Amino acid sequence: MQDNPILVLDFGSQYTQLIAKSLRKLGYYTLICPYFENIETIKQLNPKGIILSGGPASVYDKDAYKIDDEIYDMGLPVFGICYGMQLIVHRFGGTVVRADHHEYGKAELKITTPNNIFKNFTDHTVWMSHSDKVSKLPDGFEVIASSKNSPYAMIENKTKNIYACQFHPEVTHSADGDKILQNFAKDICGCERSWTMGNFAKQTIQDIQAKVTNKKVLCAVSGGVDSSVVATILHEAIGENLICVFVDNGLLRENEATQVQDMYKQIGIKLITIDATKLFLDRLDGIIDPEKKRKIIGKTFIDLFATEAEKHDGIEFLAQGTLYTDIIESVSVKGPSKTIKSHHNVGGLPENLNFKLIEPLKEIFKDEVRLLGAEIGLSPQMIGRHPFPGPGLAIRIMGSVDRASLDILRASDTILIDELRSSGYYDKTWQAFVVLLNVRSVGVMGDNRTYDNTICVRIVDAVDGMTATFSKVPFDILEVVSRRIINEVEGINRVVYDISSKPPATIEWE
Ligand code: XMP
Repeated sequence: MQDNPILVLDFGSQYTQLIAKSLRKLGYYTLICPYFENIETIKQLNPKGIILSGGPASVYDKDAYKIDDEIYDMGLPVFGICYGMQLIVHRFGGTVVRADHHEYGKAELKITTPNNIFKNFTDHTVWMSHSDKVSKLPDGFEVIASSKNSPYAMIENKTKNIYACQFHPEVTHSADGDKILQNFAKDICGCERSWTMGNFAKQTIQDIQAKVTNKKVLCAVSGGVDSSVVATILHEAIGENLICVFVDNGLLRENEATQVQDMYKQIGIKLITIDATKLFLDRLDGIIDPEKKRKIIGKTFIDLFATEAEKHDGIEFLAQGTLYTDIIESVSVKGPSKTIKSHHNVGGLPENLNFKLIEPLKEIFKDEVRLLGAEIGLSPQMIGRHPFPGPGLAIRIMGSVDRASLDILRASDTILIDELRSSGYYDKTWQAFVVLLNVRSVGVMGDNRTYDNTICVRIVDAVDGMTATFSKVPFDILEVVSRRIINEVEGINRVVYDISSKPPATIEWE
């Protein structure tokens, strides 16, 4: 792993990822860790500076999220943003109070001490989003910028090398915010601009070679962009010692298994396909609870990989396309990221796993994976594939999973995707799929009464899946999709469109 990152400690703000992505875009190696990361792990990462992100909590909450105090003693520059600022102020003896009203929106920053952190910072419009605010500074801290509603908009402690601001420099509404992040990384932490996707790819390949040596790696692939990027990187790193396994779990879309096999032929990576439809459907029989479905599917994958591994000598590692988002939404922590869903590549792993894990994408986000995919030569079709969850269609059937429901879902999904592709909307949206609601309603077809099932169409726009809004695709397209599904798919007499955003909904229904 590359040395000397800027380390962002995540307190659950929806903007945390933007801090890391902005810094990486500027060329500064940046990692995100949950705020409760063990101090020894933090030290091993050898960071050049620490950023404390924003977050939804209050420093006065009973279970307020705190960091290990030793972090302040590491002699590193620290930069607190929003909640991060309040945490610093609280820690060093200042006062944080609940503001009379939530301050949300643009504010004009008045710089009172034009020091290094403001170098090249000319547009003073910044973005505020907070309820608590600082009302008294701790000893040793001074104000360096203020705004109308936030007298302590940015503060500094020269001796301790701590900076903190109430606003969010990482969001695009703070027009020059990236200058502040850059100044922190370059002038205050002394970081070099060494991070590029190309370097990341090279470094990842070297790290894998050093870790794996001459052992073998089992790589679970799904045909999706994440596992395809992982497989391609591993193939580059260890060649024939890579064993790629594709499990046809019977929960895939129409013709998907064949398409994935063809795709791997094209990129020249050998693929072992396991047809396990019966096993998955038997184990899922009668299961309704979404978390149970996810856990069963995760465990079945692992059982199959373990059996496959026994057939080959020298397999020590299991590689997965886990992303930072998978980890943060699956790991149960107090507060910011409760277990939303057990993503199968994280939540389903048993504790006594006999493989060591290789997860080369676990620091980055989906949009960055796509850039990495382009960097290592994957085709635009492969890179542009919509995400598809590990548990597949099982979590798009509300209720128990059986072959008949899967057939209905596949036929409806094919119609939706065909129509989006032909109208040019497939590439304009993040993800599109259908859900079988298992809600029956009355209809009339010809002269006959029907009492059939409902398909819900879900199309969302997102950057990395952490947040999403429903897509405002033209009604004309939805109309054709609805008409075709009702006419062509037996058992469906009603189609509805999901107009919820994430949060508070999630993208998948289960
Ligand atoms: P949610 O439903 O949590 O989904 O808003 C966010 C994104 O993640 C995908 N997803 C998964 N991907 N394994 C995966 O690899 C999973 O278990 C899983 N569950 C959800 C989902 O399709 C969306 O793009």
